[in-house]
Amino acid sequence: MFNKLKERWKVNGVSLILIIATFALGGSLCGYAGRKLLLLTNLEKGLLWFVLYIVLITLLWPLCVMLISIPLGQFSFFKRYILRIWGKMSGKSSKKSKNVIKIAIFASGTGSNAEKIIEAATYLLGKENHEAEIMWKVALIVCNKPGAGVLDIALKNNIPTLIIEKERFFNADNYLPELKKYDIGFIVLAGFLWKMPANLIAIYTKKIINIHPALLPKFGGKGMYGSKVHHAVIDAKETESGITIHYVDELYDHGEIIFQAKCPVSDVDTPETLAAKVHLLEHKYYPQVLTDVIH
Ligand code: GRF
Repeated sequence: MFNKLKERWKVNGVSLILIIATFALGGSLCGYAGRKLLLLTNLEKGLLWFVLYIVLITLLWPLCVMLISIPLGQFSFFKRYILRIWGKMSGKSSKKSKNVIKIAIFASGTGSNAEKIIEAATYLLGKENHEAEIMWKVALIVCNKPGAGVLDIALKNNIPTLIIEKERFFNADNYLPELKKYDIGFIVLAGFLWKMPANLIAIYTKKIINIHPALLPKFGGKGMYGSKVHHAVIDAKETESGITIHYVDELYDHGEIIFQAKCPVSDVDTPETLAAKVHLLEHKYYPQVLTDVIH
């Protein structure tokens, strides 16, 4: 049951405990506050008291859990949770009233993550998935390596591509005109090795995410990419590795961590076998986490 919850909410074990604690403490707090408020009315316990109590705790509950979530470090989870419930109650999550957010994937490798993300978007749009809070689709693939596998994936899926070069990306307009032309609202890095320019980070605040094939903050930073990461993990005799999905800031592999998932590293693992395990996690979770954080 707990594993299912961890997967559904995309959190690790510690966060799950803190989330459950927030539910419990938030529930007790709103029950307590509801009773205290009813004392002010001098009402006797009876049907009216009970109805008012239910109304009060329904109204107080979101406030109380949000309050408790702050010291327990779970504010962003509960903000999303409550917005989702609100969306369902107010019917705002129906597909008709939703705008489709357009994503640019920045990638320069084989593009297996890009492919999984494209599949997930197609699924969400195709099946009219009313569960999804926000609809999104991949509108552009940005790549700095002509001939990279990700470009074939874009072609196969009829997605426009943009090949970028260093000088303009870092020292001129950062290709903003093209991002505007395609109405890009969110950026996903999937095997993109250049830093993001400060200007793009400022414009897309909390709207650029990256995936790293290890458990940050270990094994990240400049030069830590591809099989080098897995070599380093094995050399350090780690017993587990995994993935980290994080917001992007101006440092390599440094922005706020959104999600991590782990896999075991055994004595017989090689960088290749470890890479395969990590890729499985990436393909499973990156589209899900993206769907959760996109706004
Ligand atoms: C992934 O392992 C990801 O963690 C890293 O770059 C790799 C891209 O792989 N940032 P692919 O091109 O998506 O297969």
